[in-house]
Amino acid sequence: MFSFFSRNSANNDLKWINADMHSHILPGIDDGCAQLEDSLHILERLSNLGIQKFHFTPHIFKEMYPNNEGSISHAFESLKGKGVDSLLGSYAAEYMLDSGFPLEENQSGLLSLPGNYVLIEMSYIQENKQIEKTIFDIQIQGYKPILAHPERYVFYHQDPSKLVRFKEIGCLMQVNLLSVLGYYGANEKRVAKYLASKGLVSLVGTDVHHERHVKALEIGLKKSNLYSFFKECKILNAELFSYS
Ligand SMILES: [Fe+2]
Repeated sequence: MFSFFSRNSANNDLKWINADMHSHILPGIDDGCAQLEDSLHILERLSNLGIQKFHFTPHIFKEMYPNNEGSISHAFESLKGKGVDSLLGSYAAEYMLDSGFPLEENQSGLLSLPGNYVLIEMSYIQENKQIEKTIFDIQIQGYKPILAHPERYVFYHQDPSKLVRFKEIGCLMQVNLLSVLGYYGANEKRVAKYLASKGLVSLVGTDVHHERHVKALEIGLKKSNLYSFFKECKILNAELFSYS
Protein backbone atom coordinates (compact mmCIF):
# COMPACT_ATOMS: atom_id res chain seq x y z
CA MET A 1 0.00 0.00 0.00
CA PHE A 2 2.67 2.48 1.05
CA SER A 3 4.99 1.56 -1.80
CA PHE A 4 2.16 1.86 -4.26
CA PHE A 5 1.30 5.33 -2.99
CA SER A 6 4.87 6.63 -2.90
CA ARG A 7 5.84 5.20 -6.25
CA ASN A 8 2.70 6.54 -7.86
CA SER A 9 3.22 9.99 -6.42
CA ALA A 10 6.90 10.17 -7.31
CA ASN A 11 6.37 8.93 -10.82
CA ASN A 12 3.48 10.97 -11.94
CA ASP A 13 3.69 14.39 -10.41
CA LEU A 14 5.94 17.13 -9.12
CA LYS A 15 4.61 17.36 -5.57
CA TRP A 16 8.06 16.49 -4.25
CA ILE A 17 9.44 19.74 -5.66
CA ASN A 18 6.81 21.82 -3.89
CA ALA A 19 8.13 25.13 -5.22
CA ASP A 20 9.37 26.09 -8.67
CA MET A 21 12.11 28.70 -8.55
CA HIS A 22 12.91 29.17 -12.24
CA SER A 23 10.38 30.07 -14.89
CA HIS A 24 9.41 32.60 -17.53
CA ILE A 25 5.69 32.57 -16.88
CA LEU A 26 5.21 36.26 -16.08
CA PRO A 27 3.48 37.77 -19.11
CA GLY A 28 4.95 39.97 -21.78
CA ILE A 29 8.43 40.81 -20.51
CA ASP A 30 10.84 38.24 -21.94
CA ASP A 31 10.83 35.21 -24.24
CA GLY A 32 8.34 33.44 -22.00
CA CYS A 33 4.57 33.83 -21.90
CA ALA A 34 3.32 36.60 -24.14
CA GLN A 35 -0.17 37.12 -22.74
CA LEU A 36 -1.71 37.04 -19.30
CA GLU A 37 -4.06 34.26 -20.44
CA ASP A 38 -1.03 32.11 -21.36
CA SER A 39 0.44 32.65 -17.89
CA LEU A 40 -2.78 31.67 -16.14
CA HIS A 41 -3.22 28.60 -18.31
CA ILE A 42 0.33 27.42 -17.67
CA LEU A 43 0.08 28.00 -13.93
CA GLU A 44 -3.05 25.90 -13.84
CA ARG A 45 -1.43 23.07 -15.79
CA LEU A 46 1.72 23.08 -13.64
CA SER A 47 -0.27 23.21 -10.42
CA ASN A 48 -2.16 20.16 -11.69
CA LEU A 49 1.22 18.42 -11.80
CA GLY A 50 1.63 19.16 -8.09
CA ILE A 51 3.69 22.35 -7.94
CA GLN A 52 2.28 24.49 -5.17
CA LYS A 53 4.30 27.69 -5.29
CA PHE A 54 6.00 29.68 -8.03
CA HIS A 55 8.87 32.12 -7.78
CA PHE A 56 9.19 33.80 -11.17
CA THR A 57 12.52 34.61 -12.76
CA PRO A 58 12.23 36.63 -15.99
CA HIS A 59 15.42 37.30 -17.87
CA ILE A 60 17.43 40.40 -17.09
CA PHE A 61 19.73 40.58 -20.08
CA LYS A 62 20.71 44.08 -21.10
CA GLU A 63 20.93 43.49 -24.84
CA MET A 64 17.73 41.49 -25.22
CA TYR A 65 15.49 41.76 -22.17
CA PRO A 66 16.34 44.92 -20.25
CA ASN A 67 13.95 44.23 -17.40
CA ASN A 68 14.10 45.89 -14.03
CA GLU A 69 12.16 45.69 -10.80
CA GLY A 70 9.46 47.94 -12.26
CA SER A 71 8.69 45.80 -15.31
CA ILE A 72 8.89 42.55 -13.36
CA SER A 73 6.77 43.65 -10.41
CA HIS A 74 4.17 45.06 -12.80
CA ALA A 75 3.92 41.69 -14.58
CA PHE A 76 3.74 39.89 -11.23
CA GLU A 77 0.94 42.13 -9.96
CA SER A 78 -1.06 41.48 -13.13
CA LEU A 79 -1.53 37.85 -12.04
CA LYS A 80 -3.18 38.79 -8.77
CA GLY A 81 -6.93 38.42 -8.39
CA LYS A 82 -7.13 36.04 -11.34
CA GLY A 83 -7.71 32.84 -9.42
CA VAL A 84 -4.07 31.83 -8.97
CA ASP A 85 -3.15 33.88 -5.89
CA SER A 86 -2.37 30.82 -3.76
CA LEU A 87 0.31 29.81 -6.28
CA LEU A 88 2.08 33.16 -6.34
CA GLY A 89 5.29 33.13 -4.36
CA SER A 90 7.54 35.98 -5.34
CA TYR A 91 9.44 37.44 -8.25
CA ALA A 92 13.18 37.59 -8.82
CA ALA A 93 15.16 37.37 -12.07
CA GLU A 94 17.49 35.21 -14.09
CA TYR A 95 20.55 37.40 -14.55
CA MET A 96 22.65 36.97 -17.64
CA LEU A 97 26.26 37.53 -16.68
CA ASP A 98 27.01 39.78 -19.59
CA SER A 99 28.66 43.19 -19.68
CA GLY A 100 25.44 44.70 -18.36
CA PHE A 101 25.29 42.65 -15.19
CA PRO A 102 24.38 45.38 -12.75
CA LEU A 103 26.43 44.72 -9.66
CA GLU A 104 28.25 48.02 -9.50
CA GLU A 105 25.67 50.48 -10.72
CA ASN A 106 22.66 48.90 -9.06
CA GLN A 107 22.87 50.22 -5.53
CA SER A 108 19.37 49.07 -4.65
CA GLY A 109 20.48 45.48 -4.98
CA LEU A 110 19.67 42.45 -7.04
CA LEU A 111 16.28 40.86 -7.43
CA SER A 112 16.61 37.76 -5.33
CA LEU A 113 14.64 34.70 -4.44
CA PRO A 114 13.64 34.24 -0.76
CA GLY A 115 16.75 33.94 1.38
CA ASN A 116 18.87 36.23 -0.85
CA TYR A 117 19.41 33.58 -3.51
CA VAL A 118 20.25 35.03 -6.93
CA LEU A 119 19.75 33.05 -10.14
CA ILE A 120 22.48 33.56 -12.74
CA GLU A 121 23.18 32.24 -16.21
CA MET A 122 25.79 32.77 -18.89
CA SER A 123 25.95 32.26 -22.63
CA TYR A 124 25.30 28.66 -23.67
CA ILE A 125 28.12 28.66 -26.17
CA GLN A 126 30.95 30.62 -24.57
CA GLU A 127 32.14 30.44 -21.00
CA ASN A 128 32.17 33.73 -19.12
CA LYS A 129 35.84 34.11 -18.19
CA GLN A 130 34.89 36.23 -15.19
CA ILE A 131 32.42 33.69 -13.85
CA GLU A 132 34.29 32.82 -10.65
CA LYS A 133 35.08 36.46 -9.86
CA THR A 134 31.47 37.45 -10.49
CA ILE A 135 30.23 34.69 -8.20
CA PHE A 136 32.62 35.93 -5.53
CA ASP A 137 31.42 39.52 -6.02
CA ILE A 138 27.81 38.39 -5.65
CA GLN A 139 28.69 36.53 -2.47
CA ILE A 140 30.52 39.41 -0.82
CA GLN A 141 27.45 41.57 -1.35
CA GLY A 142 25.50 39.12 0.79
CA TYR A 143 23.79 37.09 -1.92
CA LYS A 144 23.84 33.35 -2.52
CA PRO A 145 24.31 32.56 -6.21
CA ILE A 146 22.53 29.74 -8.02
CA LEU A 147 23.82 28.72 -11.44
CA ALA A 148 20.86 28.02 -13.72
CA HIS A 149 20.90 24.85 -15.84
CA PRO A 150 24.64 23.99 -15.71
CA GLU A 151 23.89 21.02 -17.95
CA ARG A 152 23.01 23.32 -20.86
CA TYR A 153 26.39 25.03 -21.30
CA VAL A 154 27.97 23.31 -24.28
CA PHE A 155 31.53 24.13 -23.23
CA TYR A 156 31.14 21.82 -20.22
CA HIS A 157 29.69 18.92 -22.20
CA GLN A 158 33.10 17.46 -23.01
CA ASP A 159 34.26 17.51 -19.41
CA PRO A 160 31.37 17.97 -16.97
CA SER A 161 33.73 17.47 -14.02
CA LYS A 162 34.59 21.16 -14.51
CA LEU A 163 31.21 21.92 -12.98
CA VAL A 164 32.34 20.56 -9.61
CA ARG A 165 34.16 23.86 -9.19
CA PHE A 166 30.87 25.72 -8.76
CA LYS A 167 29.93 23.62 -5.78
CA GLU A 168 33.39 24.13 -4.30
CA ILE A 169 33.09 27.92 -4.43
CA GLY A 170 29.64 27.89 -2.85
CA CYS A 171 27.49 28.34 -5.94
CA LEU A 172 24.45 26.08 -5.92
CA MET A 173 23.45 24.38 -9.17
CA GLN A 174 19.89 24.16 -10.53
CA VAL A 175 19.08 21.55 -13.16
CA ASN A 176 16.13 21.88 -15.54
CA LEU A 177 13.60 19.06 -15.33
CA LEU A 178 13.28 19.19 -19.10
CA SER A 179 16.97 18.32 -19.41
CA VAL A 180 16.38 15.11 -17.51
CA LEU A 181 13.65 14.25 -19.99
CA GLY A 182 16.00 14.77 -22.93
CA TYR A 183 14.06 17.78 -24.20
CA TYR A 184 17.16 19.81 -25.10
CA GLY A 185 19.21 16.87 -26.35
CA ALA A 186 21.35 13.90 -25.35
CA ASN A 187 24.30 15.93 -24.05
CA GLU A 188 22.15 17.97 -21.69
CA LYS A 189 20.58 14.79 -20.39
CA ARG A 190 23.97 13.13 -19.95
CA VAL A 191 25.41 16.06 -18.00
CA ALA A 192 22.26 16.31 -15.86
CA LYS A 193 22.71 12.62 -15.08
CA TYR A 194 26.37 13.16 -14.22
CA LEU A 195 25.53 16.01 -11.83
CA ALA A 196 22.70 14.05 -10.23
CA SER A 197 24.83 10.93 -9.78
CA LYS A 198 27.51 13.00 -8.01
CA GLY A 199 24.98 14.65 -5.71
CA LEU A 200 25.83 18.06 -7.14
CA VAL A 201 22.28 19.24 -7.83
CA SER A 202 20.74 21.41 -5.11
CA LEU A 203 17.70 22.73 -6.94
CA VAL A 204 15.46 21.82 -9.83
CA GLY A 205 13.35 24.12 -11.96
CA THR A 206 10.87 23.95 -14.79
CA ASP A 207 12.36 26.90 -16.73
CA VAL A 208 8.99 26.89 -18.45
CA HIS A 209 8.59 29.49 -21.20
CA HIS A 210 5.50 28.30 -23.05
CA GLU A 211 2.89 25.61 -23.42
CA ARG A 212 5.20 23.24 -25.31
CA HIS A 213 7.43 23.01 -22.27
CA VAL A 214 4.44 22.16 -20.07
CA LYS A 215 3.32 19.51 -22.54
CA ALA A 216 6.79 17.95 -22.54
CA LEU A 217 6.73 17.80 -18.74
CA GLU A 218 3.27 16.24 -18.70
CA ILE A 219 4.28 13.57 -21.19
CA GLY A 220 7.68 12.99 -19.61
CA LEU A 221 6.24 12.50 -16.16
CA LYS A 222 4.15 9.62 -17.42
CA LYS A 223 7.28 7.80 -18.57
CA SER A 224 10.07 8.92 -16.25
CA ASN A 225 10.59 8.87 -12.53
CA LEU A 226 12.11 12.30 -11.98
CA TYR A 227 12.16 11.92 -8.21
CA SER A 228 14.41 8.87 -8.36
CA PHE A 229 16.68 10.58 -10.89
CA PHE A 230 17.82 12.89 -8.07
CA LYS A 231 18.07 10.25 -5.35
CA GLU A 232 21.75 11.04 -4.70
CA CYS A 233 21.00 14.75 -4.26
CA LYS A 234 19.59 16.87 -1.48
CA ILE A 235 17.02 18.90 -3.40
CA LEU A 236 16.28 22.12 -1.52
CA ASN A 237 13.27 23.55 -3.38
CA ALA A 238 10.78 22.76 -0.63
CA GLU A 239 13.13 23.68 2.20
CA LEU A 240 14.10 27.07 0.77
CA PHE A 241 11.13 28.22 -1.26
CA SER A 242 7.89 26.66 -0.07
CA TYR A 243 6.83 29.54 2.14
CA SER A 244 3.34 30.85 1.58
FE1 LIG B 1 15.51 30.49 -17.66
